[in-house]
Amino acid sequence: RLVAVIMAGGRGERFWPLSRRARPKQLLNLDGSRSLIQQAVERVLPLTGPERVLVVTGREYADSIREQLPELPASSILVEPAGKNTAACIGLAAVHLSRVPGPWGPDPIMLVLPADHVVRDGEAFRRVVRAAAAAALRHPLVTLGIWPTRPETGYGYIELGERAAVAQGYDVYRVQRFVEKPDRVLARRYVTDGRHLWNSGMFVWRTGAIREAIATYMPALHEGLERIAAAWGGPDHARTAADVYARLDSVSIDYGVLERAREIAVIPADFGWDDAGSWPALERLFSPDEDGNVVQGGHHVGIDTSQCIVFVNGEPSRSTDPARTGRRPRLVATLGVRDLVIVETEDVTLVCAKDRAQDIKHLLAALRAGE
Ligand code: GDD
Ligand code: MG
Repeated sequence: RLVAVIMAGGRGERFWPLSRRARPKQLLNLDGSRSLIQQAVERVLPLTGPERVLVVTGREYADSIREQLPELPASSILVEPAGKNTAACIGLAAVHLSRVPGPWGPDPIMLVLPADHVVRDGEAFRRVVRAAAAAALRHPLVTLGIWPTRPETGYGYIELGERAAVAQGYDVYRVQRFVEKPDRVLARRYVTDGRHLWNSGMFVWRTGAIREAIATYMPALHEGLERIAAAWGGPDHARTAADVYARLDSVSIDYGVLERAREIAVIPADFGWDDAGSWPALERLFSPDEDGNVVQGGHHVGIDTSQCIVFVNGEPSRSTDPARTGRRPRLVATLGVRDLVIVETEDVTLVCAKDRAQDIKHLLAALRAGE
């Protein structure tokens, strides 16, 4: 049976000042409707129901996540003692699923999902997940791949091998090679050669298969997880988990397992996927006006203003509706500028060159140093 494991412990600083330490990207509401994690859960519910969703996160986010997801039972939130990246997160979820009796039964199929992505076509997403779950009965590790459209260096790339099978109408390929976060030169080559896909960061595998792969490729993590498994549910559970986590290296599943494993399969998928990694992503998510500006929230008046992103307040639909807030929308006025990101929150205004949006983390580091 299929269990959705939603990874929601990432920090994410590139949406500052909207994202804060207490409110990382997965908890943000970018389109004025629901937060990314709420949308991620909504998207899988038709496949799993609320009983077969596991959200893995850190202590600092657990309360906000529970608040945002009241439809999930309390036991659906698995709290890690520390953030040690996605390999530990996935390993702990696998231990939980094998240790805790639940509606998933023995050796369930895990659908591992990031909490902070945009998927435009939920129905298409669920179709390919069903196919991937079928494929996971024959291939130990299945990932969903996306045809790349730009030389993104923040993603993993998957080189297609031969076609191994067809599952529910979807081609399943062997993975020739997995390259996590290549440099720009390689990324450029991968985008144009027609043989590479982006790794969507969405995986489908049996709990037993990923535990075996971790045992093979990440023996230290495996040993730690075995200690946690042995103490599971007992009086030393929390202390053992904290102790194990304190000693773990922070390694992603991509570097730790996928780059090394041989038996990986990939299904090329197309469901309007977007990692929504930083402010410029809003240009892909919302249609720019005739001057190329994207305005979310607030009220923007611009003369000779083009290719700008203007975002006000984080609750755009409410902030622009004075009847609901009793306030007038914030006015942002611009004159003779282009390629800017302008973000207004309650206490911060950010003005940033669009092509520097990846460097907001440096700005944050400088702000912290001055604190
Ligand atoms: N529980 C938990 N604990 N969740 C975590 C942790 C952790 O320690 N670290 C990260 N996450 C969550 C994040 O919140 C996010 O939802 C997901 O795991 C992926 O982590 P990222 O940190 O966002 O990974 P990435 O974007 O650098 O790279 C991954 O995603 C790309 C696509 O967006 C890789 O899988 C790439 O190969 C892939 O292309
Ligand atoms: Mg990410």
